[in-house]
Amino acid sequence: MATQPSPLYRNAVGDECVYVESGAAIVETVFGALAVGAGDYVVLPASTTHRWVPQGGEPLRTLVIEASGHIGPPRRYLSPRGQFLEHAPYCERDLRGPVEPLEVTGSDVEVLVQHRGTGSATAWTRYVYADHPFDVVGWDGCLYPYAFAIHDFEPITGRLHQPPPVHQTFEGPSFVVCSFVPRLFDYHPQGIPAPDNHANVDSDEVIFYTGGDFMSRKGAGIEQGSISLHPSGFTHGPQPGSVEASIGTAATDELAVMVDTFRPLDLLDDATACEDTSYAWTWAGRSLPDGPDSTTG
Ligand SMILES: [Fe+2]
Repeated sequence: MATQPSPLYRNAVGDECVYVESGAAIVETVFGALAVGAGDYVVLPASTTHRWVPQGGEPLRTLVIEASGHIGPPRRYLSPRGQFLEHAPYCERDLRGPVEPLEVTGSDVEVLVQHRGTGSATAWTRYVYADHPFDVVGWDGCLYPYAFAIHDFEPITGRLHQPPPVHQTFEGPSFVVCSFVPRLFDYHPQGIPAPDNHANVDSDEVIFYTGGDFMSRKGAGIEQGSISLHPSGFTHGPQPGSVEASIGTAATDELAVMVDTFRPLDLLDDATACEDTSYAWTWAGRSLPDGPDSTTG
């Protein structure tokens, strides 16, 4: 959550995909500025010098996805020439890039650079430029930051439950980003709108719940801003009662961003410190048997 402008910064390890949950900002970059707001994905190519400048009074809340390489649309939605195909859930018209350089001047300007350190560790270097990196009169090329609003993602629906790849929005090295957006549920007369119970074989699954009513998670403590992690091999699905409650439901207004990673995720201390330890037990219909949430002793 941010209320003040960030330092000037560039990530030399890989692209970043930043999802804006709430608030608004101008993303100032060496290519020009992007005005972004709630529901925008902002894709920043590796080594793009930039900073985030919050706008308005509302704090800026974002989900930051840092890649170890490049992030782009799913390859199956692109022609051999790189254009979006007609069945893609979004296209070039939905992408917003910078329209003109910023032409900022200044001297002795600090830029933080994130790069690979020893082993897998991240390292930082502080550069001081004699001239402002945004003192640019023009640029040419096909690589630049852009914004894409999740509200412009056209959902793919069907008579029966559609598999998770229909939600895929971006792909990166060893991960995908998916958008769960308001949409019609399965419309077969005997269709069950709630998703199946399942255990991922090849991926860990992170979901950021960013809006609407996430029907299948009712009773799980999931609310706006929650993040769930279902590691590969762990069975999960609708909470008890959600399947029955979903029958006859025509549509959902849920809004969520999912990141499936094809290598295991490690949790840092900040993540474990805010864990809801009762979550895993919401499928059991009872509380954690041992621990602070215990009701059974
Ligand atoms: Fe899942």
